[in-house]
Amino acid sequence: MSAPLWWISPARLFHACTDNVQVTSPTPPNPSPPNLRPLWRDLMACAQLVGAVQDGASLATALPQAAARGKWDAAQRGAAQALTFAVLRHLGTARAALSALQPKAIHPPLLRDALHTALVLLLPDTAVQYAAHTVVNQAVEACKRTPALCHAGGFVNAVLRRFIASPDLLSTVCAASTEARWNHPHWWVETLRAAYPQRWEGVLDVAQRQPTMTLRVNTRRISRADYQTALNACGLHSVAPTDPLLDQALMLQQPVAVERLPGFASGWVSVQDAAAQYAAALLDAQPGQRVLDACAAPGGKTAHLLERADCTVLALDKDVQRLHRVDETLRRLGLQARTQAADAARPSDWWDGRHFDRILLDAPCSASGISRRHPDIRWLRRAADIPTLAAVQTALLDALWPLLQPGGKLLYVTCSVFPQEGTEQAAAFLARHADAIASAAPGQLLPQEPQHSMDGNAAASPAPHSQDGFFYALFTKSS
Ligand SMILES: C[S@@+](CC[C@H](N)C(=O)[O-])C[C@H]1O[C@@H](n2cnc3c(N)ncnc32)[C@H](O)[C@@H]1O
Repeated sequence: MSAPLWWISPARLFHACTDNVQVTSPTPPNPSPPNLRPLWRDLMACAQLVGAVQDGASLATALPQAAARGKWDAAQRGAAQALTFAVLRHLGTARAALSALQPKAIHPPLLRDALHTALVLLLPDTAVQYAAHTVVNQAVEACKRTPALCHAGGFVNAVLRRFIASPDLLSTVCAASTEARWNHPHWWVETLRAAYPQRWEGVLDVAQRQPTMTLRVNTRRISRADYQTALNACGLHSVAPTDPLLDQALMLQQPVAVERLPGFASGWVSVQDAAAQYAAALLDAQPGQRVLDACAAPGGKTAHLLERADCTVLALDKDVQRLHRVDETLRRLGLQARTQAADAARPSDWWDGRHFDRILLDAPCSASGISRRHPDIRWLRRAADIPTLAAVQTALLDALWPLLQPGGKLLYVTCSVFPQEGTEQAAAFLARHADAIASAAPGQLLPQEPQHSMDGNAAASPAPHSQDGFFYALFTKSS
């Protein structure tokens, strides 16, 4: 089977493009209560998934495969996902702690990953905590129940007990290693530190937190105020952000499965992060205009711009499978666009020669701005991926610019926090194109979460709303 078209290079370059549209039910903060299903099962399921990510697979691929192989029901799958999210968010610390406790390589890798999982269950301040004796007992049980690990129960017991008996070990490993302290690769931390000398710690801290679930109300169907009332009637409390550009957004106080959202199936609402909701307002498409959405799948922004204006949209994506999701989304919301599988960087293959009034380029990128929603991304990327992705973005920008009408606007977007894919890319574009005028746009939006500071207390100056990290540049073509 050939790789999906949007794979730029091997698995580690996977672009988790569920960036701004949460398509699955959000996971609960804790796995199912251990009295309903023994913890050892979740621990082993998680160890498998963490191992797959360490081998270069994305969780979006590994989770459905493991669930199908293991015949997991929805509860098992949800619990495995929630625990894996927690472990991936703390994998830097767990790896460093395990190396300190057992410097020799651990075989098989499943044993190593079971230990990583158990260690995260023992860490303070994670979303998944159990009594220490339960974790040790269940980790040993996991070994007994797993043929490949049945010899390792004593070893696991010894390693975990040594961890519990070493209260200073965590502070020692975190002081010695950037990866252990910040739970992101060293190069990632250094890139952020250089780019945001005052804010890099906050950016990394937000990546450790479960994000708010943000909704976008389809105001063609129902007003935001009326939808908020409908949510209240279902016991779901929400907050409307004050930013006028986020006039369709509602932030839920607690995440819920989409099935619990009133009118979801009938297209009243979608799930979309606030940072992603700036795109349609900034592009400002007018009724009757011709709009190109060059990298459209899974279609969150395509739908949003159609909710705001009766424009004619051509939605392209290189990936045929993902393009089907654009069609599904539009159908659910009662919207229409022409969808086409094509390489946006090769207009000679698909362009009819008629210029567009608006172009949205939501380009493939590192997805470093959504590391909180996809904690596998930080372990899949390599530093060398960033210039490769930046070159793809440059090629897309240069290929699409000639397709824009004089006086038209092109909005360049990435869900990245790395300057090479944002501010530097935009500056280089302006330098190459004398007919491009920079228009007002937010530039780099850093990820933020309103209620908490790093120590978990109410922050002194809370962020106004929850959002992922996105970059926006708007270029107008001179007439
Ligand atoms: C960031 S995602 C787009 C998210 C989408 N705009 C939304 O809001 O739901 C980037 C998309 O670009 C697509 N892509 C990558 N390279 C492309 C190319 N050369 N031409 C068209 N699509 C491409 C990927 O398949 C992926 O679906």
